[in-house]
Formats: sequence, C-alpha cells, structure tokens
Amino acid sequence: MLLNTGYDMPQLGIGTFMLMNHTAEQAVLEALKDGYRLIDTARIYGNERGVGKAIRKAMQEGLIRREDLFVTTKLWTSDYGHAEQAVDASLERLGLDYLDLMLLHHSQPYNDVTAYQGLESAMRKGKLRSIGLSNYYSADDFDRLVRQTEIHPAVLQNELHPFFQDPALVQYVRGTGTVMEAWFPLGGRGDHRKLLQQPLIQSIAAAHRASAAQVILAWHRQKGFVAIPGSSSRRHIAENIASAGLHLSENEMRQIDSLDTGRRFAAY
Ligand SMILES: NC(=O)c1ccc[n+]([C@@H]2O[C@H](COP(=O)([O-])OP(=O)(O)OC[C@H]3O[C@@H](n4cnc5c(N)ncnc54)[C@H](OP(=O)(O)O)[C@@H]3O)[C@@H](O)[C@H]2O)c1
Repeated sequence: MLLNTGYDMPQLGIGTFMLMNHTAEQAVLEALKDGYRLIDTARIYGNERGVGKAIRKAMQEGLIRREDLFVTTKLWTSDYGHAEQAVDASLERLGLDYLDLMLLHHSQPYNDVTAYQGLESAMRKGKLRSIGLSNYYSADDFDRLVRQTEIHPAVLQNELHPFFQDPALVQYVRGTGTVMEAWFPLGGRGDHRKLLQQPLIQSIAAAHRASAAQVILAWHRQKGFVAIPGSSSRRHIAENIASAGLHLSENEMRQIDSLDTGRRFAAY
C-alpha cells in the first residue's frame, strides 16, 4: 500500500502482541524466512529486543536487507510526555537507526497532540519514515488530532475484522489519504475461534480448499486493509502468508461483509 509519505507498506505482516522476547524472536525469524517483510511490535509488548534480534539474525544470514523491511512500533501512553526520548529508546531496543512507521498506541486527548508533535520532530530528523495513529474510533477524535498537527497520519491501525468492519470510519479516514490497518484481523487471541469457526467462512474455505484464516486474510487484502495476524506457530505463519494466493469472488466478499456485528471484541 502506498503511504502518503511515498513509502510502500506491505499488506500482510506478522503481529507480535502477547509474545515474550524469545517467542517473538522465533516467530519473526520464521516469518522473515517465509517472505514476510512487515513486522508489528510495540513498546508495551515488551518484545522489541526479541524482534530486533530476529531482524539482525535474518540480516546476518543474508535473508534480508534493512531496506526490504517495514518495521512498525508504537508509543505507549505513559511516554506521551517524552515522545522523542521514547522513540530513541525503541530504536535502541530494536537495534535500528530508523523505523518505517511509529504509531501513537491510543487516543489520549489530554496529551496525544504533544506526543504526535514529538513523532513529527523525530520524523523530520530522519528517525521515522512515516507516522500514524492507533485506536481512534471516531472521525471527530481523528480530526481533533489532525487539526492540531502538521503531518497527516499515514496509517490508522484499529481493531478490524469481519465481525467489526466500522465502514463509516474506514471510508472517512481513507478519504483523507490515510491507510487503514487491521489489528485482531482474525478476531484476536481468545476470540479468533469465533471467526474461524463461523459457518459461512468455513464454507467459503472449503470451496477454495483453503483454511478459514486464509479466507479472512484474503478478505482483508481485498478490502484494502493492511493486516498483521499474530502467531507463534510455524504452521500458521506459513499458512497466513500463503493467503496471498487466494482470491475471493465479489459475491463471497459481500457475504463476508454481511457478518458485521458492529461490535468490537476488545474493550480498549
Ligand atoms: N494497536 C493495538 O492496540 C493492537 C491491539 C492488539 C493487537 N495489535 C497488533 O495486531 C496483531 C494481531 O492481533 P492479535 O495477534 O492479537 O490477534 P489475531 O491476529 O487476530 O489472532 C491471533 C490468534 O490467532 C491464532 N492464529 C494465527 N494464525 C492462525 C491460523 N492460520 N489458524 C488458526 N489460528 C491462527 C494465533 O494463535 P497461534 O499463535 O497458535 O498461531 C492467535 O491465537 C498483534 O499481534 C499486534 O501486533 C495491535
């Protein structure tokens, strides 16, 4: 996906929420071997060092070059008062000298504008290639931040999946030139089975001899979302990237669209 900064963001990546350093390292290394080039982490996940180790190993093994990778991390809310220092700390833990994308992790009206201005400053210094937001669920909240800052968010990363599609917000945000990225693309650790076992998704998967996860990831891709399924399973990591070969018909897309409940799984 072409971002408003001119950089290209892969449409499928690996998520690392809930993975400890060692597991994240293994999962990311596995993913890089399988051809993933987008990695999503966050300061609050506590695994930036593990992610950084995997990147270095893959570079040492000659699997990737830094410029082939797209690394995202997020600024945690308690760091909003000292954003630029927090950017430096994330870079240090990851062992990188720039990030492809840094997001404010959550809307926090009392100081998120100041935090975003810190990201703008780090971007001007070349430490961040693109900056954006996560967890802004209304056009008013999104606009509140945009009005008071200079660099338009390249990406908004929100909970998005067939049961929560948020079409009005997606249309609005995209209209401003911001790319939508889906977290909990499979419904999230804990709730993913509700999506994977949904009968319509199961029947579309059977028709394509694909897995339910692949059907959902193809749906995300065809909706134009960036998706970052989290996994520590070698089999799932390989299965998820193979979804790139699956194409759903317009009718199948419409049927999955009809599963929207308008309700999120997460409470934050
Ligand atoms: N910005 C935010 O506030 C925010 C919040 C939450 C998450 N995120 C980001 O979004 C990423 C994705 O969210 P998530 O990891 O929480 O949830 P998810 O990707 O929707 O679901 C992950 C769950 O699905 C399972 N899974 C993955 N691939 C599978 C497959 N092919 N078949 C069957 N099960 C499969 C995983 O188990 P296995 O490990 O066994 O594969 C795990 O239990 C996170 O990792 C994180 O990077 C961001």
